[in-house]
Amino acid sequence: MESDDRKIVGLAGSLRRTSFHRGLIRAARELAPEGVTVVPYGELDVIPFFNQDIEDRGDPVPVREFKEKIRQADAVLIATPEYDYAIPGVLTNALDWALRTPSPFRHKPVGIVGTSPGSVGTARGQMVLRQILLHPPAYVMPEPQMLIPFALQRFDQQTGDLVDERTRENMRRFLVALVEWIERFEINLTAYERR
Ligand SMILES: Cc1cc2nc3c(=O)[nH]c(=O)nc-3n(C[C@H](O)[C@H](O)[C@H](O)COP(=O)(O)O)c2cc1C
Repeated sequence: MESDDRKIVGLAGSLRRTSFHRGLIRAARELAPEGVTVVPYGELDVIPFFNQDIEDRGDPVPVREFKEKIRQADAVLIATPEYDYAIPGVLTNALDWALRTPSPFRHKPVGIVGTSPGSVGTARGQMVLRQILLHPPAYVMPEPQMLIPFALQRFDQQTGDLVDERTRENMRRFLVALVEWIERFEINLTAYERR
């Protein structure tokens, strides 16, 4: 199948102005294969704190828009920092809204990438996110994994841009793999998944 007209929503789990994860989403937009567009979602701080009383009255507009963008995407690329061996509250909060049934993440192909200044490159945070995304379930690509250690050597600290050429090449390959991951589900839906 051709990879034409694929849309991947890029979600950054950090609000920091010079965030490396926002930089990763920008890099993904630049490095996406032919026929694939990575659309940055925007900032997660427009999404209010989850409150079931509010949900009972109906999703607020930013939540509705967030869910709709996920629903319309062929896949979601999540670039998240590791916070406290887990993921940032701002991302968890958005997922609390969006993973409620019926979730737009159900059967949605997802790629996860992340970077940290240390040597672990968000390995622990990514495992937590994988576990959370089992709930709808979303289909998180198992490999390749993209854990980027030593962020300070690979990103421009003034802008958050990914400048390391090798890591940019890895991102290019990661996106090619994510498109192949999308295609698997278009071709091979099981009877259970079609329900
Ligand atoms: C509240 C907080 C908790 C953090 N916890 C971790 C952690 O558990 N593991 C880690 O490798 N880095 C941790 N860090 C460092 C982040 O990896 C680093 O700040 C990273 O650059 C954040 O991503 P950003 O550049 O996209 O904002 C933490 C940072 C903050 C602010």
